[in-house]
Amino acid sequence: MTHIKRISELQVVIGHEVTLNGWLYKNRPSGKVQFLMLRDGSGLCQCVIEKDKLPEDLFGQIKHLGQESSLSITGLVRQEPRSPGGVELAVTAVEIHTPAVDYPITPKEHGVDFLLKNRHLHLRSQKPWCIGRIRHTVIDAIRRFFNDNGFTLIDTPIFTTIAGEGEQTLFEVDYFGQPLHLTQTGQLYLESAAMSFGKVYCFGPTFRAEKSKTRRHLTEFWMVEPEVAYIDLPGLLDLAEEFVFSIVQRVLKDNHDELETLGADIAALEATQTPFVRLSYSEVVDILTSDRTQKFMAAQLEQFQGQKRMMEQELAQIEAADAKGGLKKWQQEKNARRLQKIRSELVELQVKIDNNPKHARLAADFCWGKDLGGSDETIISLMHARPVFVTHYPKAAKAFYMKADTEDDRVVENFDLLAPAGFGEIIGGSVREDDYEKLLARIDEEGYNPDSYQWYLDLRKYGSVPHGGFGLGVERTVAWITGEKHIRQCIAFPRLMDKVYL
Ligand code: 4AD
Ligand code: MG
Repeated sequence: MTHIKRISELQVVIGHEVTLNGWLYKNRPSGKVQFLMLRDGSGLCQCVIEKDKLPEDLFGQIKHLGQESSLSITGLVRQEPRSPGGVELAVTAVEIHTPAVDYPITPKEHGVDFLLKNRHLHLRSQKPWCIGRIRHTVIDAIRRFFNDNGFTLIDTPIFTTIAGEGEQTLFEVDYFGQPLHLTQTGQLYLESAAMSFGKVYCFGPTFRAEKSKTRRHLTEFWMVEPEVAYIDLPGLLDLAEEFVFSIVQRVLKDNHDELETLGADIAALEATQTPFVRLSYSEVVDILTSDRTQKFMAAQLEQFQGQKRMMEQELAQIEAADAKGGLKKWQQEKNARRLQKIRSELVELQVKIDNNPKHARLAADFCWGKDLGGSDETIISLMHARPVFVTHYPKAAKAFYMKADTEDDRVVENFDLLAPAGFGEIIGGSVREDDYEKLLARIDEEGYNPDSYQWYLDLRKYGSVPHGGFGLGVERTVAWITGEKHIRQCIAFPRLMDKVYL
């Protein structure tokens, strides 16, 4: 009797006959044998069809099946080290469900805009599939970490009455005539829950009307936020460190194949060991304005220019080979793919080359008091192989709820965590102001209406305690781990400031 199996389960049924339900990923006919690459959502499997094993008309029909045709394939599972997953199927029967004709996403290179417009189909391709699987692991690791460490999940509201992270990025909604906002953070609600449960977290979609078209910003993203009663800044850093380390370990364990397919820097992830680097904002300012940074930037520029020369050489070689002619069709196609890849990498490299002097100048001119910019974070995170905590930012650069440092009133007890390799901020967090009067004064300074914050102030009236927490952005974390440059690839249906595709 044949059993329906998923491709990911085939290793344990070698020698048995099974049926796979899936879609045609690639079709390579070669005379009397056809090699079908089937995907079923759990992986890819090579299926080998010998002509005399199937009725002749069916064999002919399969030869002309288009990419993404849906089919069930039955066959014997056998070991094949050269096949993905180490097994292949020796086919005995094929059932075609729906043939697909002219599937728009082909193995050639497509532009970003085209792929985002076709996101509903592109999700089936290897890259989004690998990223989707890793995102799934990241989210599961997040939940497990908090559930295993005594945290209670609190679902905070999406319609909110107050701003947490600055009014300029609020999305307003008309709530039966009353203006409300989509949540920017669950933190303020979570603080009240922390006074009931001690250790809590929320995890959900978060909305920010960010008017910036950077690779780090979405208007809708997922954020997980823990909040803990009776915790100080060193305690928060320890928690964040253990948490991020556990996520990376889980992905390394569960998604090695996906990381490899994506070309992620696995060695760098393995080097993400604790303790992470800990720097204060003032130390970062000293680094940014030092000679060391100028030398670092000059070395970077030299490296980019070297890479550019090498790519230009390769480009010229391929173009010359193409011009000479006489190439087989598959060689021409391979060259076309490579050329497109080099050209898009050259564009990116040129942006880095053009930006380098600007960013070096911004760093040199950095004045104490400003928030760190994207390029400043990039420099600091490029200088370190491990994630970097930056603590104690100037009060004026940060949110109203952050607690002023008891030793230096100009700074707050907060931190950002910068991922390595130039990736930048993935976590923001702080100890919260727990003094009623001081918090009220900050709300006044920001020009917020204290009436709206009355319930939040109440927490400082009835049994106030030192407490704090942080927020980690899921898409930024996935982008860092997978080595994906733009976070729009790290969510199934991205929402960007200038475009919502589908
Ligand atoms: O630093 P943020 O603004 O911190 C807060 O919202 C706090 N209330 C969290 C807390 O203490 N409970 O945002 C936290 C993280 C950032 O580090 C980043 O990873 C992510 O959320 N993030 C975004 N991700 C994608 N697109 C955006 N527009 C993002 N804005 C923030
Ligand atoms: Mg932040």
